[in-house]
Amino acid sequence: MKPAPFDYVRPATLDEATSLLAQHGADATVLAGGVSLGAMLNMRLARPQVLVDIKSIDELGRVHIAGGVAHTGATVVQARAMAATALMDAVPLLAAAFPHIGHMQTRNRGTLGGSIAHADPSAELPLVLATLGGTVVLASRSGERHVPARDFFLGILATARRPDELVVRLEWPVTAPRTGHAFDEIAQRTGDFAIAAVAVRVTLDAAGTIATVDVGLGGVEDRPVVLTIPAMRGARPGAEAARAIATEATRDLAPLDDMKASRAYRTSVARHLAERVASQAMTAVDMAATAPRAAPIPDPAAVKPRSRPMITLPADARASVTFELNGRAVRGHVEPRMLLSDFLRHELQAYGVRVGCEHGVCGACTVLVDGMAVRSCLQRAVEADGACITTVEGLSAGAGLNPLQEAFRRHHALQCGFCTPGILASATQFLRDNPDPSEDRVRDMLSGHICRCTGYTGIVRAILDASEAHR
Ligand code: FES
Ligand code: FES
Repeated sequence: MKPAPFDYVRPATLDEATSLLAQHGADATVLAGGVSLGAMLNMRLARPQVLVDIKSIDELGRVHIAGGVAHTGATVVQARAMAATALMDAVPLLAAAFPHIGHMQTRNRGTLGGSIAHADPSAELPLVLATLGGTVVLASRSGERHVPARDFFLGILATARRPDELVVRLEWPVTAPRTGHAFDEIAQRTGDFAIAAVAVRVTLDAAGTIATVDVGLGGVEDRPVVLTIPAMRGARPGAEAARAIATEATRDLAPLDDMKASRAYRTSVARHLAERVASQAMTAVDMAATAPRAAPIPDPAAVKPRSRPMITLPADARASVTFELNGRAVRGHVEPRMLLSDFLRHELQAYGVRVGCEHGVCGACTVLVDGMAVRSCLQRAVEADGACITTVEGLSAGAGLNPLQEAFRRHHALQCGFCTPGILASATQFLRDNPDPSEDRVRDMLSGHICRCTGYTGIVRAILDASEAHR
């Protein structure tokens, strides 16, 4: 078993969660989506004594817009937030940043609050929240504490959260009239950690000159760096202004120097990217737009925790888990630290689930959980209790191949086949949600998988071919 042993507790209420954190303090780690944490547990970089799974706390999954602020609960899943049109309209910088966050398969599992609490300096959500001047809301037995996002991030994976607190909500200022936003980043591959990421918010006055500029830089220093640039007030938007904004924003940077990029290269990337993104933000200003109105979020999928009573499982206990696997009910007994990938393979003989990296990079272990493609190596089996899981064994209804699998065969989209079950799981969700995808979008989805043999060309052709048959 990869993670070190831990007790697993799944509180049903915020009261229960804060009591647990008050009791265990720094010995407890909060589990929201568990994408980054799952990798750290598997590599034993994180060895909590108690894992507090907050996904069943109903109020942490809510989203609403009121008083010029979009309030998102900590456990709102990134893919669900992305699909909530009212939220994306209200916070366009969030909409611009979302496609850069990991891969489809990680956004299906990762949460808004989890990314903020994890505080990776390259992560997009901390950068957006800080650039917009948003707020992190923390809760403990003493009540709520509101921390400006610009003060929350203290360094690499370090925040102002105290051990007895958990992130419960994020407050994103909604866009104001005459405001433009843009976001972009440079990474080695789509979905990789950014070498540099830039977020810009520009507001113009009624005369069309710059009123305020906020520039956020991510992946450059050990936390998001945000600058407001008063010197730009009154300047005309355009190429010259974009150049000046980039120069000002990167003047006093102290960039990281690591194996991904040298200090000089990172500085250069940040400056060029800032110029491009500032230009895009100025172009995006709509002088006629009005402020979005307060609204509940109409997409109920954005608010979807699974309410269940609190459970406590000691590290050496074996919990009973029941779920649907490929259309049939299955049951087993697992230690809290057992990964879903291992449970599927070793206990349920679903050998189509492949295990490669075990830290969320290769995509070989991808399965469908409640219809969404996720990394089964980043999820514990106990979290799958009550879910509906489909592995490659369950993709075709009968004994033969389904149209997607048939297209893979026709286009020679596999050689050794190690990566294929995971890619088929992702492509199944992808084609359901994107019946008429472009090649770029297919390649984007495939960036969540590593294939060592094929060069991807046959895989791309097979998925495009299957999409035509699908329509
Ligand atoms: Fe799970 Fe590689 S992503 S084994
Ligand atoms: Fe061999 Fe993809 S077919 S790894």
